[in-house]
Amino acid sequence: MTAGDLLLLEGELGSGKTTFVRGLARGLGSVDAVQSPTFTLVRIYKGRIPLAHVDLFRLQSATELADLGLEELLDQAVVAVEWGDRLAADDARARRLKFDVTGPDERRIRILRS
Ligand SMILES: Nc1ncnc2c1ncn2[C@@H]1O[C@H](COP(=O)(O)OP(=O)(O)OP(=O)(O)O)[C@@H](O)[C@H]1O
Ligand SMILES: [Mg+2]
Repeated sequence: MTAGDLLLLEGELGSGKTTFVRGLARGLGSVDAVQSPTFTLVRIYKGRIPLAHVDLFRLQSATELADLGLEELLDQAVVAVEWGDRLAADDARARRLKFDVTGPDERRIRILRS
């Protein structure tokens, strides 16, 4: 992972998107607490490489990267977006991961586009 990497995370409620971001933050060397952004759309965790954590669950209508200020963030951070399928722009840089609930304690993560 490096600054400029954009991960769009899709999947139903409770499918493991935030948990995945928590692991990603640890992998990037951050010790910050990872929780879904609630009142803000974006939280930034410090680490070897900064990680911007975006959650579009409350977004009313499809939005583009630029509207969220993500273009600037991508210059210096890895950007992971929960409910990333709500982004209108299908950015060429984006990797898409799909999360599915396969059992009470089991999740499946598929790469839709790497
Ligand atoms: N890989 C996994 N294996 C087993 N359980 C998991 C896994 N990932 C997440 N969970 C469990 O699923 C629940 C929901 O996880 P999480 O909050 O990460 O989902 P989410 O997709 O971010 O949900 P939301 O749509 O509400 O944002 C938690 O109880 C978590 O412990
Ligand atoms: Mg979440």
